[in-house]
Amino acid sequence: MQKLTGKLCVITGAARGIGAAIARRFQQEGASVVVTDIDEQAGAALASDIGARFIRLDVASEADWAALQKEVPAADVVVNNAGITGFEHGPVPHDPEHATLEDWRAVHRVNLDGTFLGCRYAIGAMKGKGTGSIINISSRSGLVGIPLAAAYASSKAAIRNHSKSVALYCAQQGWQIRCNSIHPAAILTPMWETMLGDGPDRAERMAAMVADTPLKRFGTVEEVAAIAAMLAADDCAYVTGSEFNIDGGLLAGSAASPG
Ligand SMILES: NC(=O)c1ccc[n+]([C@@H]2O[C@H](COP(=O)([O-])OP(=O)(O)OC[C@H]3O[C@@H](n4cnc5c(N)ncnc54)[C@H](O)[C@@H]3O)[C@@H](O)[C@H]2O)c1
Repeated sequence: MQKLTGKLCVITGAARGIGAAIARRFQQEGASVVVTDIDEQAGAALASDIGARFIRLDVASEADWAALQKEVPAADVVVNNAGITGFEHGPVPHDPEHATLEDWRAVHRVNLDGTFLGCRYAIGAMKGKGTGSIINISSRSGLVGIPLAAAYASSKAAIRNHSKSVALYCAQQGWQIRCNSIHPAAILTPMWETMLGDGPDRAERMAAMVADTPLKRFGTVEEVAAIAAMLAADDCAYVTGSEFNIDGGLLAGSAASPG
């Protein structure tokens, strides 16, 4: 049975990776999907492939959200998925001692400002009906410190907390508008490609990156999309302000735990 029949779902950063998998899964579940991204070529190609609509949206741009509000004034589900690590253009210091203010802010602009604007849009697009599901893609990095990617970790921690503020605010208004966060650990997407490379040591590098993960593998985009589909559906009508880890067991224990 399709779980999202009749629902209009807006997904950010959906041209590739986790966002694209969520778009595909939602469409399979009977939803009408609006794929948004700054990558117009890949976004339009995915939308045409799955029978969705594409709209260019830079999540950090208030003007782009205002334009979306005009184009898509009502929505049932909004997934704030777009995110960057800060390493997109090569290795730059992102530790707390050497990171520049500009690089720190650039990551927060997309990850945190983008999620704030996305939640604000979602509330406006859902409050007419008084129901809806907002799903924010945070990270395992929002739950622990990441010394060499401090801005990423800080922005993802803030997304976790903002999701709870949004959930409580909507409940206070008497709306059945839910807001939850998903916290993936290592999920194999293009985000990892610069670190993995395509050399002969790729398999070795991949194994090293998940050596501390109890399930000893990367997660898949489909596995994240399955949680998003669950949270988007009415089955989860009583779930709000909650966080969902998808991490192969990583956060269940600690390297310091006795074996
Ligand atoms: N892949 C992982 O291991 C992992 C783990 C934890 C959390 N996440 C989070 O999941 C989300 C998706 O990650 P992914 O691995 O699929 O990444 P990805 O790099 O493969 O895809 C990100 C997409 O976001 C788009 N994007 C970037 N900046 C944007 C902006 N300003 N406005 C709109 N779109 C923009 C890109 O064009 C791209 O299509 C991110 O928020 C990421 O932080 C990923």
